Amino acid sequence: EQSNTPYNAIGEQKLSHLVDAFYEKVQKHPLLSPIFPDDLTETARKQKQFLTQYLGGPQFYTEEHGHPMLRARHLPFPITPSRAKAWISCMENAMDEVNVEGPLREFLLQRLDLTAQHMVNTPEPDK
Ligand code: HEM
Repeated sequence: EQSNTPYNAIGEQKLSHLVDAFYEKVQKHPLLSPIFPDDLTETARKQKQFLTQYLGGPQFYTEEHGHPMLRARHLPFPITPSRAKAWISCMENAMDEVNVEGPLREFLLQRLDLTAQHMVNTPEPDK
């Protein structure tokens, strides 16, 4: 295992708290809650596994679920540009709550923003 990874910088415990805080916000968000399951226990568990490897830690997600194919796994859900923004704003609020700060926060948000944009698969609905 490498030692100077973003995963090591944030640490297992803080990453876990971040993901839990994030899904609390998702559950309350009017644009996001309708497309997520009511019980987010399993979603949060998978997200912890995924972010661990995304940040350079052990490949727990791939060991259990195979290649992430993240965009393909999101195709069943209508992900609009507004939903991508909402996802990132929930993540920013979760970072505020668990005190992910400084260069680590900037680095994480930059990467997550690119990934979130990549998940967009549906245009904004007509008003
Ligand atoms: C799963 C929505 C962005 C990682 C899901 C699910 C939804 C969703 C509805 C299914 C939950 C379930 O059935 O348990 C969204 C929306 C996004 C977004 C609206 C806005 C752009 C992202 C990003 C990442 C990510 C940026 C990673 C950095 C995952 C993972 C799963 C998942 C790892 C679990 C996949 C699996 O079932 O194995 N997402 N997502 N998502 N999402 Fe996202």
